Amino acid sequence: MSLGLAEAGILAPGRLRAQSDEATPNVLFGVRLEPFVDPLFVPPVRRPDSVVGGTPHYSITLSEFPQKVHRDLPPAVVWGFDGMTPGPLLVAERGQQIVVEWLNRLPTRHRLRVDHTLDGAGTGVPEVRSVIHLHGAHVSAENDGYPEDWITPGQKQQTIYSNRQPAATLWYHDHAMGITRLNAMMGLAGPYLIHDPEEDRLNLPSGAYDVPLVIQDRIFDGRGQIVYPVGADPEAPWVPEFFGTQFLVNGRVSPYFNVEPRRYRFRFLNASNSRVLQLSLVPEQGFLQIASDGGLLREPVKRGELWIAPSERIDAVVDFGGREGRRLMLVNHAPAPYPTGGGPVPGLVMEFRVASPLRETADPSRIPDQLVQVPRLQEKQAVKTRRLLLLEQMAGKGLPHRLTLDGHRFMDPVTEDPVNGTVEIWELVNTTIDAHPIHLHTIHFQLLERRAFDVRRYKATSEVVWSRPAIAAAPEERGWKDTIICPPGQATRIIIPFRGEPGRFVWHCHMLEHEDNEMMRPFVLRS
Ligand code: C2O
Ligand code: CU
Repeated sequence: MSLGLAEAGILAPGRLRAQSDEATPNVLFGVRLEPFVDPLFVPPVRRPDSVVGGTPHYSITLSEFPQKVHRDLPPAVVWGFDGMTPGPLLVAERGQQIVVEWLNRLPTRHRLRVDHTLDGAGTGVPEVRSVIHLHGAHVSAENDGYPEDWITPGQKQQTIYSNRQPAATLWYHDHAMGITRLNAMMGLAGPYLIHDPEEDRLNLPSGAYDVPLVIQDRIFDGRGQIVYPVGADPEAPWVPEFFGTQFLVNGRVSPYFNVEPRRYRFRFLNASNSRVLQLSLVPEQGFLQIASDGGLLREPVKRGELWIAPSERIDAVVDFGGREGRRLMLVNHAPAPYPTGGGPVPGLVMEFRVASPLRETADPSRIPDQLVQVPRLQEKQAVKTRRLLLLEQMAGKGLPHRLTLDGHRFMDPVTEDPVNGTVEIWELVNTTIDAHPIHLHTIHFQLLERRAFDVRRYKATSEVVWSRPAIAAAPEERGWKDTIICPPGQATRIIIPFRGEPGRFVWHCHMLEHEDNEMMRPFVLRS
């Protein structure tokens, strides 16, 4: 799919106009906004409120407030942390535990329509609930933010994050049963970094040159408010996917960022509900990918395009050296739903302006050829292989789809129960037509390979028969992962070292609409 600049609004500067979105059954009106008029907001580093016995303590408030997202719009009513969305940047050192108290001061009525027919979101439970999960963290079950461990306005959630894992880009977000998509849409997400001496020694771009970019798609109405679609049935307003018409980067619509002619490390996080991103720079300029979800790769990987599914993180270095005076646009050209949909494609994500003078005489950062050791797990280490199907089901005549993991619903008895300390292979067989980003809590895994199977035959006989040779993991996917994109018609084979504290966690699709409607399962780490 190609990028239409006129379509994306670049040829109609300064004008606000209604735009209908024919790709979704319910006609939505969103405003068209001039891109690159607001500066990038960089989430500030959150300082601890106190340090008790060497442990930093944070008390972070979830609340509703107005936030200016674009020059030409009145402030949007959003939900966030400490008065901002995305929330402030939490920074931890490897091995240094921190305590975070999440204080729910949200209103008691949701701003978006709750679907009370979804499991866990019935009329018997409060409409506004929150539970914060630190995505990508190795944690114990009681600190993980289990979907049913929600609290209500006025209550607080106490969490301990041990940070016993390598330097990486993590993020915190709401995970409340049946309403995660709505809470995330309102803004309950924020970035979290772990540093370690091994990474510090490499002298990668740091400080002001290490910038989180939280990318989300949204629809705003003419009054500047967040619009979320509802399905045809007023009793069951759930929609199977959300695709917005504007990009937010760090909570601002398609902002610009003044950069120096030197290297930057950008921590790309796709925090969209459903949208897969395929990002590139225009005019053409490459990325050097240095990390994935779980931390640094073994060696940097040159990439012309970054493919990021919801909740995946990619750390990439961009070198603006020698580009003084230039402007580079970050554009998206992934169809939605991915990969075969024809949904709206907002193209313009943000703009880099190489407009600031070098603060130091030369760029002191380096990108070594070797970053860290990443041992590759071997198939023979696995004690068990589980074949798990990604399935789409009709919920009944005229009712929207439901997606499931291996045909089970969230409330069904646990079927995935790995023994702590063992390695397993999970074959995620995607029988649907969309790609799904599958995420496991509390551990990191590695991609072994992907392999196409005969979908027609599967539909007829329920057998999985390979139709092509397996494709080994590409270099950029050979690091530690916690979320893996599972393309349609393929089995995505991952190898998982289960080690941590025994307890009950979840695994799920990170398209939040799917997650909220049964595409989430518990797993028990057994001792
Ligand atoms: Cu990003 Cu289960 O979460
Ligand atoms: Cu899904």
